Amino acid sequence: MSNKLKLVAVSGSLNNPSRTTTLLKVIVKELQQRLPLDVHFIELQDIGPLLGSSLSRLALPKQAVDEILKIEEADILAVATPVYRASVTGLFKHLFDFVGHETLVNTPVFLAATGGSERHALVIDHQLRPLFSFFQALTLPLGVYGSEADFGDAAPGYSIESEALNARIILAVERALPYLQALLPVDAPRLSLVNAR
Ligand SMILES: Cc1cc2nc3c(=O)[nH]c(=O)nc-3n(C[C@H](O)[C@H](O)[C@H](O)COP(=O)(O)O)c2cc1C
Repeated sequence: MSNKLKLVAVSGSLNNPSRTTTLLKVIVKELQQRLPLDVHFIELQDIGPLLGSSLSRLALPKQAVDEILKIEEADILAVATPVYRASVTGLFKHLFDFVGHETLVNTPVFLAATGGSERHALVIDHQLRPLFSFFQALTLPLGVYGSEADFGDAAPGYSIESEALNARIILAVERALPYLQALLPVDAPRLSLVNAR
């Protein structure tokens, strides 16, 4: 049996390249340096069209159902969405409308978002956190928000150019760690913060 925790990362961005997906990948990389993880990445940019044409779970194509099952079976979720009209993207919400309402009970969820400016940073606490509270998931203490000015072009994608954002990612990961380490089997090796960096 694997000692690794199943982490499923979900980016609600509809774009490629994407600031949101860039942010989520950096967060996941930081988590991977501290925990033994099996990572599965889901991008709405890929599966959005499959979801958008279906109005019920029974009508979903198999590829979309398989991704939803990955979410439902995750030990840890890491989610990030761009702010659209002061909320999450419509397809991000549509995806989680298909997730079984009792499948995420006690699942730790790392929350992140990006927006055009700082003005909608509370999307994490006013939109994402209540959504995952509905699922009785365990939303982790600190969310991470990046605005467009925090990112630079690193063709063909983006890179994080803000020291403050990088520091926030590390702090949020460290705050999350006690909750995530508690999921490991008692005999699993624990990577210390000192060794991880
Ligand atoms: C349809 C649409 C609506 C948006 N609404 C908001 C908004 O309400 N508040 C905000 O701060 N940014 C808003 N933005 C900007 C995006 O959130 C921002 O550019 C984000 O970083 C894009 O992420 P991405 O590169 O992953 O697509 C909006 C962008 C689009 C396309």
